[in-house]
Amino acid sequence: MKPDMRLWFTIIFILGGITLSWGVYRTAATSVKTTVSPGGAPSLQQDTNRKASEDHLVVELCDGETAIEASDVAADGVLPPARARAVAARLMASYQAKQRSQWTKRDRMTWEREQNRIIEEGYRLFHDWKALGGTNGISCDMCHPDAADTHPETYPKFQTQLKQVATLRDMINWCIEHPMKGKPLDCNDPRMIALESYITSQRKGVPLAPGKH
Ligand code: HEC
Repeated sequence: MKPDMRLWFTIIFILGGITLSWGVYRTAATSVKTTVSPGGAPSLQQDTNRKASEDHLVVELCDGETAIEASDVAADGVLPPARARAVAARLMASYQAKQRSQWTKRDRMTWEREQNRIIEEGYRLFHDWKALGGTNGISCDMCHPDAADTHPETYPKFQTQLKQVATLRDMINWCIEHPMKGKPLDCNDPRMIALESYITSQRKGVPLAPGKH
């Protein structure tokens, strides 16, 4: 082999090596970001995500804390099916590991306290037509004592008066608008969430039976 040909081969070999290692590096650079945030901090993590997602894709888990960064995919990019499954599996693996180890007795007590607080608020509203914007002096408990006949476990189901498959929230609003002559609540209204919590808490342990009449 001539000396200048050997030189060309060496240059091509080095360039190939650099390209290959860059590719391997980019593939491996998909990283799981897990931050354990003491109460109130999730917004900080969301800010971090937003910053990172300016140039590449960040897939967030539903826990508001964990995210995977795909550094080789554009922020508005779509993951091919196999890669998407792999990302979902990694997110779930990190979630399951955390579930087994992270929650303390104190966390559980906080959840229980908040749950009871919202149920009590729902109970109060169920007996207070004014607080729900009723206009005729009639409250929920007058027709549904102890939430009787509310059947939350049967939703979503077809309701003839609404002429469609309705949610529990739709029926709560129907009863606010009709027997109580009030205005429907926004589905994110804290009063709606409280009513729903109270109604469902009264049917704890009843098997789900969506569609049952
Ligand atoms: C004047 C009586 C009356 C009042 C007041 C009333 N409801 Fe109802 N409610 C009914 C009747 C009757 C039905 C059954 C309608 C049906 O299933 O077609 C019903 C249905 C429901 C359902 C669906 C039940 C099922 O079996 O699918 C829910 C949930 C509900 N009401 C919640 C409430 C809430 C919450 C309030 C107060 C904001 C309220 N209701 C006020 C009479 C009332």
